[in-house]
Amino acid sequence: MEKITIAIDGYSSTGKSTIAKQLAKALNYIYVDTGAMYRAVTLYAMRNGFISENSKDVPGLISSLDKINLHFVFNETLGFSEMYMNNENVEREIRAMDVSRLVSKVATIDAVRKKLVSIQQKMGEEKGIVMDGRDIGTVVFPEAELKIFMTASPEKRATRRYKELLDKGENVKYAEVLKNVENRDYIDSHREISPLKKADDAIVFDNSDMGLEDQFSRILHFANRVINKQ
Ligand code: DC
Repeated sequence: MEKITIAIDGYSSTGKSTIAKQLAKALNYIYVDTGAMYRAVTLYAMRNGFISENSKDVPGLISSLDKINLHFVFNETLGFSEMYMNNENVEREIRAMDVSRLVSKVATIDAVRKKLVSIQQKMGEEKGIVMDGRDIGTVVFPEAELKIFMTASPEKRATRRYKELLDKGENVKYAEVLKNVENRDYIDSHREISPLKKADDAIVFDNSDMGLEDQFSRILHFANRVINKQ
């Protein structure tokens, strides 16, 4: 059976990665979380003094981009791939609130986007891939056979993210998480380069009032319909 490319875009904390992971597993496809790549570059920028809450050294970061090596390693126990930056497993650190607060700023830098988009396109050369992010259906794979645009209300998304962070032992307040979700929505959809926007041919999927199983079975159904037509 012909393999296809599946692009899953949408707002932060819509549960894109959970569904994308499950879908990739069911289809025996590769799963790529492109947000993790933007987060890893942000972590590098923070550690090297190129970005903080009140400063941003864009030329400095751009001149160091070649020193950032990114790859994913599949973790058999967890059942998904973890993000490695310069051979260090940064999966846990890139999900922390301080990275979440700064990542949108890094994602607006053209040279960062060019580097990451080119890595992502190479990863998808053979198809058989489920990739999630903000610009997958519009920029990375405009020819993807299946495009899903996930959305849910900011309050639902903040509640989900808040629970996730508490489970991880982070000390956060709901109001702070909601503010972060709203800020990121604004920056992600108003930036000049590759703003978050629905591709014309994407299926809009609002999961505000949908459980995980229901979402998964609907999206798997969309995927099988496209695959069986190939
Ligand atoms: O999906 P996420 O919340 O982990 O993404 C982190 C940030 O990276 C988010 O603020 C937007 C940005 N991003 C992007 O600009 N383009 C992508 N393809 C993926 C993420």
